[in-house]
Amino acid sequence: MGGASLGLWIIHAVIVKTPPLLLHWPDENATQAFAQQLAGQAALRNAFVCLRGNLGAGKTTLVRHLLGALGVQGRVKSPTYAVVEAYTLPGLDIWHFDFYRFNDPREWEDAGFRDIFASPGLKLAEWPDKAASMLPPADLDIQLEVDPSEQRTVSLRAHTATGETLLKGLSALQTHKPELAP
Ligand SMILES: Nc1ncnc2c1ncn2[C@@H]1O[C@H](COP(=O)(O)OP(=O)(O)OP(=O)(O)O)[C@@H](O)[C@H]1O
Ligand SMILES: [Mg+2]
Repeated sequence: MGGASLGLWIIHAVIVKTPPLLLHWPDENATQAFAQQLAGQAALRNAFVCLRGNLGAGKTTLVRHLLGALGVQGRVKSPTYAVVEAYTLPGLDIWHFDFYRFNDPREWEDAGFRDIFASPGLKLAEWPDKAASMLPPADLDIQLEVDPSEQRTVSLRAHTATGETLLKGLSALQTHKPELAP
């Protein structure tokens, strides 16, 4: 590990005190149950949440259940081609990004993404690494992994005070004792 990354790690460890939360979702019902817990967190109404994981890991599925739990009616389209889909609920604006096909930083200004990130509301982003140089730090990172039996192992990490509030609220709702991520 280089000096710079060690320094960053130490800064991260000092700012963020809440340990990562590790969850296990045997099936999509478990994903839905988590989405309902997340939807119930007041801090989510002004948060930037990144969804990480391979193709088919379940990022869009989680967003669909989350938006449903928040009260979005009708179909939630995967924004792979449009890059962003916007939803308006009474008192809550939501933007669901998928940066998989994002490759022109000029699009950031042209499509008004700077304005979106300056606005209050919930921003959700799949494939954030594809726009890493443009994006602000995530409040909460949700990393999904598919295990050999197709179940999901999920780790949640906070990077800001908003993220810590979310993580603490979610931790308190887990029925079993959360494991600590390595
Ligand atoms: N526990 C689970 N949680 C979420 N999805 C699951 C789970 N078990 C099975 N699935 C299935 O896995 C698939 C996940 O697809 P989804 O489009 O959500 O992935 P994605 O991570 O958004 O992929 P992409 O990177 O292509 O956008 C869906 O068909 C879903 O039904
Ligand atoms: Mg997706």
